[in-house]
Amino acid sequence: MPNETEALAALFEAAADVRVRAHAPYSNFFVGAAVLDEEGRIHVGCNVENAAYPEGTCAEAAAIAAMVASGGRRILAVAVVGGPAEGDEIQCPPCGGCRQKIREFAGEMTSVHLRDAVGTVSSLPLGELLPLSFGPGHL
Ligand code: THU
Repeated sequence: MPNETEALAALFEAAADVRVRAHAPYSNFFVGAAVLDEEGRIHVGCNVENAAYPEGTCAEAAAIAAMVASGGRRILAVAVVGGPAEGDEIQCPPCGGCRQKIREFAGEMTSVHLRDAVGTVSSLPLGELLPLSFGPGHL
């Protein structure tokens, strides 16, 4: 059983590994995301842009889709790495749509971890990124 520091390192490593496979020829902004599910499994995704620009998809959405396809139903933690070029990472906050997508499978205390190129990490509860959110409990 990994401790919290090791678990976070593994989550970031998974996000960074998948980030290099992003398809981002239009924005040149490469994003990798990793989600930890309720069984301790990590699922990853990268952004996939499209010549028809609005058809592009975000890294977080891809990671969540991979989790659901594998049977995962709860997000315990999220890590995102992104930036304009490989090795040039900024702390990349999830876009508004991705915050809502995370919300579907996470609570307000679920941590979203962001990291920059020098390894500085910001960890924010989802409730701070998406206050007063609408979720499954409202229906
Ligand atoms: N992007 C993500 O993958 N996740 C986010 O939360 C923010 C933005 C992608 C979409 C697009 O391919 C590129 O970053 C620039 O917006």
